[in-house]
Amino acid sequence: MSTEKNSAVKTLVDLPKNVVRSVFRNPLPSSDRGRAATSFTNFFLHIQPVRVSKQALKPSYTMGLGLISLFLFVILTVTGVLLMFYYVPSTTQAYDRMLDLRSSVAFGVILRNMHRWAAHGMVALVFLHMCRVFLTGAYKTPREFNWLIGVALFLLTLFASFTGYLLPWDQLAFWAITVGTSIAGYAPLIGKSLRFLLLGDSTVGQEALLRFYVLHVVVIPMMIALFVAVHFWRIRKDGGLAKPEQEKGTAAPAAAAGAIAASSPVPVTTVVTATAPARRFTIQGLVRGPFVKVGKLEEDTVFSWPNLLIAELFVLLLTIAGVMAVSLLFNAPLEQPVNVMHPPNPAKAPWYFLGLQEQVSYSAFWGGIGVPGIELLLLVLLPYIDRGRKGIGRWFARERLLANSIFLTFVVVNVYLIVIGTFFRGANWQFVSPF
Ligand code: HEM
Repeated sequence: MSTEKNSAVKTLVDLPKNVVRSVFRNPLPSSDRGRAATSFTNFFLHIQPVRVSKQALKPSYTMGLGLISLFLFVILTVTGVLLMFYYVPSTTQAYDRMLDLRSSVAFGVILRNMHRWAAHGMVALVFLHMCRVFLTGAYKTPREFNWLIGVALFLLTLFASFTGYLLPWDQLAFWAITVGTSIAGYAPLIGKSLRFLLLGDSTVGQEALLRFYVLHVVVIPMMIALFVAVHFWRIRKDGGLAKPEQEKGTAAPAAAAGAIAASSPVPVTTVVTATAPARRFTIQGLVRGPFVKVGKLEEDTVFSWPNLLIAELFVLLLTIAGVMAVSLLFNAPLEQPVNVMHPPNPAKAPWYFLGLQEQVSYSAFWGGIGVPGIELLLLVLLPYIDRGRKGIGRWFARERLLANSIFLTFVVVNVYLIVIGTFFRGANWQFVSPF
């Protein structure tokens, strides 16, 4: 009887420990083996490699821009789901629900602010991340496909923000979407049908609100989640982030094996690659076979646990703090309810499409479809056109001066057009000074 009692007490005493152990199978690691095991066995960490290159961890290299984009997406998903509890995609209710959010829902204002500013932030950060990838030449072989996935993510991010813009159903939303979708209408042959498909009608109304809502809360987020998963999977398969070492040329395993020559009385072997000077590896290195990468020595890497994890948590905290700070300081705009008879003058598209709107003011077809179409095509074809292997993994490499200059010219022109459209255009799209 007393043994049974003892065992019941022991079970109770051990309960917390057993629960924790069932979730975290390894104790906090204190050895290299433990650090590796933690990365392997943890659901969230197994997506990452056991070791990560020191360069990838340098804040000045990636600036955490991709990670911040991801965390903004997570913040948008969480705040978006909470907003869905209150929002109704109906032209008669949507605006009132926005007012309710402001006046009678606990934390409603901060919730809406966080969602709004994180959405704008994501557009900007994804763009900056794309610039980082370009300026470090990180789109080159074998990362061409990941660049394509990235381009798709950029377009999806713009589209997610654009579809969300309509939902408050105020004057700003209504006229921005009216202008934005009319740009799509300039496409030859399919323009009108495309606009009709998007709006479900010939004008922005109930059908458009419903379509934008479904696209915004289900279709686009699911596509982004799927594409982000493929994006990360490809980063792993492409051998982590691009590094300068790759320039030196890694010979194919078979070629490298063919070039191996025994050159020492002790088991030391020389590996000769096409472009790199001869390197010497111990025989233990060779038996690890394809896992040993020429030009990528162990000293260049550190364990992901805890180095990468700490960096990621830091970026996460920074992102949350940044979004919170902006949301506490600035309220998301909410103008008068929709009045289809009174368009504001000028009616402006969302800021990221104001460069397009500015171009459209010069030529409807070339500004709205022709030039952006060519730019998009160049973006897609880029890694297949620019095949050089120089300057990978370095910011503003001298060898990439021409490519970087062309890219930066495009960036500056587009930013310039956005600034003009945002601050220097007044009634009837006349040039006005904001000062
Ligand atoms: C939702 C949008 C996106 C997310 C969440 C995302 C996330 C990430 C993350 C976390 C990384 C690891 C390195 C880093 O933090 O910079 C990365 C790398 C990369 N991303 Fe993105 N990304 C997005 C959009 C894009 C876009 C728009 C492009 C280009 C058009 C792109 C191309 C790449 C490439 C090629 C790499 C590998 C870079 C290297 O090897 O250095 N990504 N992305």
